[in-house]
Amino acid sequence: MHPIASLDDLKPDATRGAVYGLPARWYHEREIYQAERRQIFARTWQLACAESDVAGPGDYLATDVAGYRFFVIRDRNGHLRAFHNVCPHRASTLLEPGRGRCDLLRCRYHGWVFDGAGNLRRAPDFGEAEWFRKEDHGLKPIRVETWRGLVFVNFDPEAAPLARDLGSLPETVKDYPIESFTKVRQAEFEMNCNWKTYTDNFVEGYHIPGIHPSFNAVIDFSKFETTHADALVIMTAPQKNGSIYGGMWLWGWPNYTLSVYPTGMNCSRIVPIDEKRTRLVYSFFFKDVSAAAAEANERTIETNCAIVREDFGICEHAQGNLEAGIFQRGPLSPKHETGVRYFHDGVRRALGREGLREGDWLA
Ligand code: FES
Ligand SMILES: [Fe+2]
Repeated sequence: MHPIASLDDLKPDATRGAVYGLPARWYHEREIYQAERRQIFARTWQLACAESDVAGPGDYLATDVAGYRFFVIRDRNGHLRAFHNVCPHRASTLLEPGRGRCDLLRCRYHGWVFDGAGNLRRAPDFGEAEWFRKEDHGLKPIRVETWRGLVFVNFDPEAAPLARDLGSLPETVKDYPIESFTKVRQAEFEMNCNWKTYTDNFVEGYHIPGIHPSFNAVIDFSKFETTHADALVIMTAPQKNGSIYGGMWLWGWPNYTLSVYPTGMNCSRIVPIDEKRTRLVYSFFFKDVSAAAAEANERTIETNCAIVREDFGICEHAQGNLEAGIFQRGPLSPKHETGVRYFHDGVRRALGREGLREGDWLA
């Protein structure tokens, strides 16, 4: 019989009250990553883009998460739709990653043509076959919902509505006019680390003095606080003069971030590419997008990107040691790493028995 009897046993060292991070092998083993694809990424709402990215009829945005390629498109009638970016004929990808506009989508492999509502319109030169009906071979739709100017998708037809799964986010940012900001830039970074290595880093401020000296100089680190609410980690710190930050950084389950500052906001997607590689997709939004504000906006973007680069330097470094087989798991600070613990609890719950191996949990 399996030694793990109930989900309570998934709590690390439950008997001693000690709190440790996830086992090192969870940061690089393919089998864990495959379980995460099924249990997390195939089932949760995924931030896809801004509504302004797909503003007009035919506008689309194609991207991916954890190997699932998908796209969001506004159809001819103005309805927002999302589909797996996979041709239902023989599995070619329909749209290259990125933004674009089209009326009809044509697969480059054998030329099948679909409309923006996902219907198969033509299957050229397919031949006569009485069993083949075009209406049975449209694109595979996925759920799409919007919240305050942001577009989310979910591959799971049974998933709860977005508003429920956003948890505490709507309440936390209710006083910020986020839908009035204009998206001006998207920046992408690729890192050689597991998506959780980067997420662990994002949900704690413990590393700020060591890794981000210039950021540390404009916040009162002694008052840095980390709390968590439903599906959200909230980090706050008082700002000193000259800070461009708003003093609140949010991370939402399982892989998006949102930070609001006095002049706008940014949000990011933490996109697993495989078990050892992650892409960050940052979107920057501003209140004032006039020429007069351009320089200050650029500085804000550059300051944020510099911090991200500092983060991925240390994350890639730690990833090497997570893979090397010496480090097993480390203790989490009750003062600074409650966000890490909250994130890890979510991963443990999602994976359940799929992640277990005897000895992972019990000291
Ligand atoms: S795979 Fe798309 S037309 Fe054949
Ligand atoms: Fe950081």
